Amino acid sequence: MKLIVGNWKMNGLTADGRARAESLAHFIKNAQDSSCKMVLCPPATLLALVGDAVQGSGISCGGQDCHTEASGAFTGDISAQMLKDSGCDYVIVGHSERRQHHRETDAEISAKAKAAHAAGLIAIVCVGETDAERSAGKEESVVAEQLKNSLPDTATPENTVIAYEPVWAIGTGKVASAEDIKSMHAFIRSKVGEGFQLLYGGSVKASSAADILHTPNVDGVLVGGASLKVEEFQAIAAASG
Ligand code: PGA
Repeated sequence: MKLIVGNWKMNGLTADGRARAESLAHFIKNAQDSSCKMVLCPPATLLALVGDAVQGSGISCGGQDCHTEASGAFTGDISAQMLKDSGCDYVIVGHSERRQHHRETDAEISAKAKAAHAAGLIAIVCVGETDAERSAGKEESVVAEQLKNSLPDTATPENTVIAYEPVWAIGTGKVASAEDIKSMHAFIRSKVGEGFQLLYGGSVKASSAADILHTPNVDGVLVGGASLKVEEFQAIAAASG
């Protein structure tokens, strides 16, 4: 069963968020085969609404980030426990936009994943190299280091999903080549072992989804921009069959 995760990022207001979630719930309920599990990660302001709209469809909700602590004086932050309480089953941690804009370190990401596990959430831990790192031939060592330091000792295949998202492919329209995805996913598999679900993310579109989803060691996709377009995202989900 492929995991198809839509990361809405900082996009969506009540009306369009509800319409998108309702359409996807309708699509999943009527899908002939259930070869995918869909997860929607809307902005926190829409979690309750999206959760309501997808109820009974089998679609799960996820947060886009969480704090390392369960509660406290952390203005503006959201804890894993709060996400769980809002109906989430998943949370993305260590997205490259968080690593970049909020200077999140591997140690912090590991603590966030641990907090997610403590709250009963599945952590989607993101790793991936920059353009400069790949040009320097360092992609494997960078990803190995991120895996070593951002996965907490509580991580198991039941509570953790790993998303390989090359930074240069996110929101750029540049998808990693089939060969690049194949070799990096084999490399990650060799590091973490069997059982963990491995996602690819970075400019996944309906047109590229089938090939990506049928690459060895690719158990699903993490989709940003294309997850905001209902038909495009449905086509990506359909490509998992
Ligand atoms: P993108 O984003 O699909 O827009 O490249 C992917 C992600 O950031 O998870």
